Amino acid sequence: MPAPRTVLLTGAAGGLGTLMRDLLPAYGYELRLLDLRPIEGEPDAIVADLGDREALREAVRGVDAIIHLAGISLEAPFEKILRANIEGTYNLYEAAHEEGVGRIVFASSNHAVGFTPRPRGDDPLIPIDAPRRPDTFYGLSKCFGEDLAQLYWDKHGLETVSVRIGSCFPEPTSVRMLSVWMSPADGARLFHAALTAENVEHTVVHGSSANTRLWWDLTTARSLGYDPQDDSEPYAEKLIAEQGELDPENIAHAYLGGHFVSDPPIWPY
Ligand SMILES: NC(=O)c1ccc[n+]([C@@H]2O[C@H](COP(=O)([O-])OP(=O)(O)OC[C@H]3O[C@@H](n4cnc5c(N)ncnc54)[C@H](O)[C@@H]3O)[C@@H](O)[C@H]2O)c1
Repeated sequence: MPAPRTVLLTGAAGGLGTLMRDLLPAYGYELRLLDLRPIEGEPDAIVADLGDREALREAVRGVDAIIHLAGISLEAPFEKILRANIEGTYNLYEAAHEEGVGRIVFASSNHAVGFTPRPRGDDPLIPIDAPRRPDTFYGLSKCFGEDLAQLYWDKHGLETVSVRIGSCFPEPTSVRMLSVWMSPADGARLFHAALTAENVEHTVVHGSSANTRLWWDLTTARSLGYDPQDDSEPYAEKLIAEQGELDPENIAHAYLGGHFVSDPPIWPY
C-alpha cells in the first residue's frame, strides 16, 4: 500500500480528535474532518452523523485512509451504543469498502478487555491475545468493532489497525493512568505507524506510552514501527501523594478498566 496522504479523521471535534488535528499534519497528512458537532475555525469540517450512510460515503470518497475516533466514548444505554458505535462503525466500514479505501485505524479501547485483572508484583504484562472481557456496553461495542475489522479484512481485504487506547490526555490524572497513559505525542506516533506499516491485515495493538508502570504488552504496536518516547513516571510522585497507591481491596483498582468495571462514567448527551 502506498503511504497514505489524505486521511479522514472521524470524531475530529472530540478530545483525541482535537489533539490529533494539532499533531498529525506534521507527519504530512492532509486531514479531512468529520464529526456530529461543528468545529470552531474549521468551516470545511463535515458535520454528519455516523447513521447517515450517504454522508459517510461522500466523506470517505478519495481518501487514502481513515482514523475512526467518532462515537460514544463512555458508558450509555445499549440502544445509544448500538446506533453510534455498532451501526455507526458498520456504516463507516461499508462506505470505506464501497469506495475502495485501503486502511482504517480503529479507536478501540482498554475497556474491550476491562475485566482483565491488572498485573501485580511480578505478574507478566497483559498479552494482546488476552480473552475479551468488556467492562461496559461501551467496551462491548469496541469488541464488535475489532471483529468487524477482522471480517472486512478476511472478506474484502480492507486493512485495520485496532488500537486499544489506554488513556490519551495531555497528562495522566490518576494513579491508574500512570499504567495506561499514552501521551498525545506518542498517540500521533502510534497512529502514524498504524497508517504506514506494511501488510497489517488486521492487527490489534495496545496503545500507551513506554510507562515504567505499564500493565500491558506493547509488542504488536512496536512491530508496526511504533517507538514510544514518553513515560508517565515523572507524574507518579505527585499523583500518589494526592491519591495514594492503588488499593488491592478496591474493585475499581483491581482491573485494567479501572472504575468502568464498577461505576462507569455515563455519556452525558
Ligand atoms: N481519549 C482516550 O483516552 C480514549 C481511550 C480509549 C478509547 N478511546 C476512543 O477514542 C475515540 C475518541 O475518544 P475521545 O476521548 O476523543 O472521545 P470524545 O467523546 O471526546 O470524542 C468523540 C467524538 O465523536 C463524536 N460523535 C459521537 N457520536 C457520533 C456520531 N453518531 N456521529 C458522528 N460523530 C459522533 C462526538 O461528537 C465527539 O466529538 C473514541 O472512539 C473513544 O472510545 C479514547
